[in-house]
Amino acid sequence: MYTGLRPFLFRLEPEQAHAFTLSLLRLVGVLPPLQTLVRLLYPVEQRPVLAFGLNFFNPVGLAAGYDKDGLGWRGLACLGFGHIEVGTVTPRPQAGNPHPRLFRLPEDRALINRMGFPGRGADFVARRLAGKHPPGLVVGVNLGKNKDTPLESAADDYLSGMQVFAPLADYLAINVSSPNTVGLRRLQERDALQHLLQVLVQEREPLSKRLAKPIPLLVKIAPDLTDGDLDDLLLVALDTGIDGLIVANTTIQRERLRSSLALEIGGLSGAPLTQHCLELTRQIVARSQGKLPVVSVGGIMSPADAKARLDAGAVLVQIYTGLVFSGPGLVRQIVHAIA
Ligand SMILES: Cc1cc2nc3c(=O)[nH]c(=O)nc-3n(C[C@H](O)[C@H](O)[C@H](O)COP(=O)(O)O)c2cc1C
Repeated sequence: MYTGLRPFLFRLEPEQAHAFTLSLLRLVGVLPPLQTLVRLLYPVEQRPVLAFGLNFFNPVGLAAGYDKDGLGWRGLACLGFGHIEVGTVTPRPQAGNPHPRLFRLPEDRALINRMGFPGRGADFVARRLAGKHPPGLVVGVNLGKNKDTPLESAADDYLSGMQVFAPLADYLAINVSSPNTVGLRRLQERDALQHLLQVLVQEREPLSKRLAKPIPLLVKIAPDLTDGDLDDLLLVALDTGIDGLIVANTTIQRERLRSSLALEIGGLSGAPLTQHCLELTRQIVARSQGKLPVVSVGGIMSPADAKARLDAGAVLVQIYTGLVFSGPGLVRQIVHAIA
């Protein structure tokens, strides 16, 4: 079906195409007969996984950034995802960067985005997540900071995100790796990260008791860290007791790209990340001696790519750009391939 729809979508501006797709998914999410139809069109087998204390009915998730405001997640769930990561959500609404800010690079099976966390803010998204969730679906919320929050006060933004979403989400992802918010990635440096994670882990304890449920905290990292940065980050992650890493966000590297848009500023995603994110997953699993569950994301464009991540030790995988180029059938194909 997607083979028919893709040429139409690819004739639209990338952000328009995304808005159109999301509005279809939103419609699916509110109309039960459409939900049943989509579930019938995309039947997905069960491949249960237990990760950071949560039961996933399969290891394939939707990466952050696709459903920033929680508009389409109920429809997306019908495509067979085991988990969906909503966000990045910032505490207050913000416009993001000027348009154009999303670019397709078909020759490279890649995207470049410099969205800059546009979104309607935490209160809006919280309303979108309220109510009963589809049984078995794991919903994560990816948290960020507002553009105008100084880096020194970043912890306050993540804390407020945690307070709003802990009751509504199954896990929280701390995004310190988007390249499109100035300075954000400096929060991955040892001292800054230690401070941020300590504050969050400390606050999590009473919150978790009050809600009578665990609140797994994952940290989403950049693929562009040096070996030394990565060692520091792993020490901090293990020391603070967070539950896992999401590896990785988009890259600012540009290597061997063919598209004329290759030099657009922003984060690159898709096929150019495949090999690097596989290697990074392998390295992190080895260096942390398997003590930090890894959710592997970046350039998973085919079932074979996903299988390689799981074979490398990842507990879960996520997709975004693969969905744009291959369509929603990719979820089912991956789940089927990892029998
Ligand atoms: C248009 C776009 C927007 C994104 N927005 C976010 C975001 O808000 N937060 C985040 O953590 N990652 C964001 N990402 C990164 C993805 O979640 C993912 O880490 C990255 O694209 C690599 O995976 P992929 O190659 O499967 O796309 C975005 C990616 C794209 C393409």
